[in-house]
Amino acid sequence: MNKINVSKRSRVLFLDGDRLYLRPIEMEDVHNFQRWINDPEVRRYLVTRGPISKLQEAEFLRQMMGSANHRIFVIVLKEADRAIGTMGIHNINWIDRTGTTGTMIGEVDCWNKGYAKEAKKLLLRHAFMEMNLRRIETAVIAENKASIKCQEACGYVREGLLRKKVFRTGKYLDEVVLAIMRDDWLELQRETQG
Ligand SMILES: CC(C)(COP(=O)(O)OP(=O)(O)OC[C@H]1O[C@@H](n2cnc3c(N)ncnc32)[C@H](O)[C@@H]1OP(=O)(O)O)[C@@H](O)C(=O)NCCC(=O)NCCS
Repeated sequence: MNKINVSKRSRVLFLDGDRLYLRPIEMEDVHNFQRWINDPEVRRYLVTRGPISKLQEAEFLRQMMGSANHRIFVIVLKEADRAIGTMGIHNINWIDRTGTTGTMIGEVDCWNKGYAKEAKKLLLRHAFMEMNLRRIETAVIAENKASIKCQEACGYVREGLLRKKVFRTGKYLDEVVLAIMRDDWLELQRETQG
């Protein structure tokens, strides 16, 4: 793995990947988050629908930062130290040991380069090996092929279909529920390590 070099230690880095790293969100990120979440291409399949003001976004970030039940990160490319999106675990239940993941690669020119997959693999390792979670799930609009492929490539399996759950682009669309269990993730690690 291409570890970050010592001269770059001044970066705030929480999870270290090959081409990217994950760091905590800061209030200075509000501009990027607001820009990403309002972009019609980016928000097409997201839960949020309305226009999001800087104040609303700042309030959202403040809530996330102050809550033990959400753990969200900024995804940063090592090259040029460019913030390209966000990924996190939401609605963490510390008794059931479950959480829900969410991802937004806000910079559209960074889509389809494997960044979401790389970030998700880091996040799952953190969830299972450091947070001691047991089950991670997500719900994805069925038309969002990139997101479904990304989850499946990381080991999530389809558990169900919520028929005509959300109204988008003039029609009701199905949602796919996917999840990954810690034991299955451990098995995948054993397989990939030979
Ligand atoms: C969905 C999203 C997170 C995917 O991120 P990404 O970095 O482009 O995904 P990756 O490059 O890691 O690709 C993951 C898989 O999806 C595939 N893929 C990427 N874009 C695709 C597309 N437009 N159509 C079909 N498959 C696509 C890749 O080939 C890859 O498949 P593979 O594992 O077979 O190689 C990103 O497009 C995004 O943030 N979209 C806007 C917000 C959003 O919809 N978030 C998800 C809400 S559930």
